[in-house]
Amino acid sequence: MTTTQRARSDVPYVCTACGTTSLRWVGRCSNCGEWNTLGPASVRVRRPGRTATADTAPAVALRDVSTDGARPLPTGVSELDRVLGGGVVGGSVTLLFGPPGIGKSTLLFQVLSSVAGTGVDVMLASAEESLTQVSGRASRMGPVPQHLLALEGPDVEAIEVAVERHRPAIVVVDSLQSVSDPELAQPAGSLAQVRACVERLTRMAKSSGVPLLLVGHVTKDGDLAGPRAVEHLVDTVLSFDGDRHHALRVLTSVKHRFGPTGEVGIFEMRDDGLRAVPDPGPLMLGDRMAGVPGSVVVPVLQGRRPLLVEVQALLGPGTGSSAGGVASRPHTLGIDAARANLLMAVLACRTAVDVPVPAEFFVAAVGGITVSEPAADLAVALAMASVVRQRPVPADLVVFGELGLAGEVRTVPGADRRLAEAHRAGFTRALVPASTLGDAKATAAAAPAGLVVHGVRTLAEALELAGAEAGAQTGPGTMPGWSTVRAAANR
Ligand code: TYD
Ligand code: MG
Repeated sequence: MTTTQRARSDVPYVCTACGTTSLRWVGRCSNCGEWNTLGPASVRVRRPGRTATADTAPAVALRDVSTDGARPLPTGVSELDRVLGGGVVGGSVTLLFGPPGIGKSTLLFQVLSSVAGTGVDVMLASAEESLTQVSGRASRMGPVPQHLLALEGPDVEAIEVAVERHRPAIVVVDSLQSVSDPELAQPAGSLAQVRACVERLTRMAKSSGVPLLLVGHVTKDGDLAGPRAVEHLVDTVLSFDGDRHHALRVLTSVKHRFGPTGEVGIFEMRDDGLRAVPDPGPLMLGDRMAGVPGSVVVPVLQGRRPLLVEVQALLGPGTGSSAGGVASRPHTLGIDAARANLLMAVLACRTAVDVPVPAEFFVAAVGGITVSEPAADLAVALAMASVVRQRPVPADLVVFGELGLAGEVRTVPGADRRLAEAHRAGFTRALVPASTLGDAKATAAAAPAGLVVHGVRTLAEALELAGAEAGAQTGPGTMPGWSTVRAAANR
């Protein structure tokens, strides 16, 4: 098949006489019977009766456009309002996506309860759960407000009618994959249905001015046929994630037409619903065991917000057992496996640490959080080195910095915020990229009093500084690679 033929068979065609579309090119239109009228669908066909000047809106002066409608309505859930920059805007459509069971329905139910508590009607369109199930969840979270209306069933048309009738202050549709447009033959959850329903619901929100919150499920491997396919249709996309077996939940804005993205909200899932966690420190580091090899704390940035995360490494029983083997890729949890593999190679090639071959490394970010920032590189490499050497890093030390293949420590953004958070949580020492200090002396000056900050240029240098303390505890010089006990500049 030639390229031209293939292109022809994939592209829809449209009859320039009657507008009928056809997936195949044919000489005679099957609808009107005209010959040679089929052209590619992109060829513009003028609608009968429409002239070029009719029905077109004139351009207006932008500064005269009112922004009153864009003032957000607070949802009353503080961490959500923080992420949204104040609340939901009238007529806006927000998509909340996350894996099943993470707490999306719980979060939005709390939003509805809170807004209903102010004395205005709100509406839940539950396409997924029966109202008995919804009511069961509600009663676990406290008394159900009088103004909370609920509608059961998948029919998108019924939702439109109910919104028109009740004019609620806010509508939640739970979930995208369960609503369906009765005019379409495809099953609920199919791409065609999801798209059609989002389009209809978006039109409804825009015309009624009612803010709409939509729930969408994604699977752990990022199901593309679902919510991702409709991101462009909505105003705001929020991701809700965390480890189902841990209490911590992270809400991030991925797209936001009414404010900055990247802002993060943190929640704890409890027996009575989600609770905002303005200070996640104790939840993240509360169970940390000091003095155990392989544990390193890194201040990561979630949006603009710093969060202290413990990175742990462990060497498995398969380590060093067969001479001449090849080190296997580290097993990771909450950390990218390819990145950890690269860091293991940097550690083996650019420092004196004797990474055993084969090495069966396990590396994890504790607390059910996923760390994707390169700023955590230094912590991952130090945790591996610490576990190989069986030397703990000092318990009051935090580290951050990206690692290059040459073993160099590269600068990362937000040093001042990371250091401030470490200091707030009681850490007294920090290893940071030397270029961060060099380029901005201000960072060192702004380092909170009581926090001693070291700039490091290489991973090897970081190992010496981090290992110096451990060496001092157990006798310096006993371990090659950690042996050069530098008079650390912080003493
Ligand atoms: P849910 O909001 O139904 O998740 P999603 O809509 O994202 O699928 O919440 C699911 C889990 O949360 C469920 O396993 C039970 C747990 N949960 C609590 O731990 N405490 C609570 O108060 C509620 C309502 C749920
Ligand atoms: Mg749900």
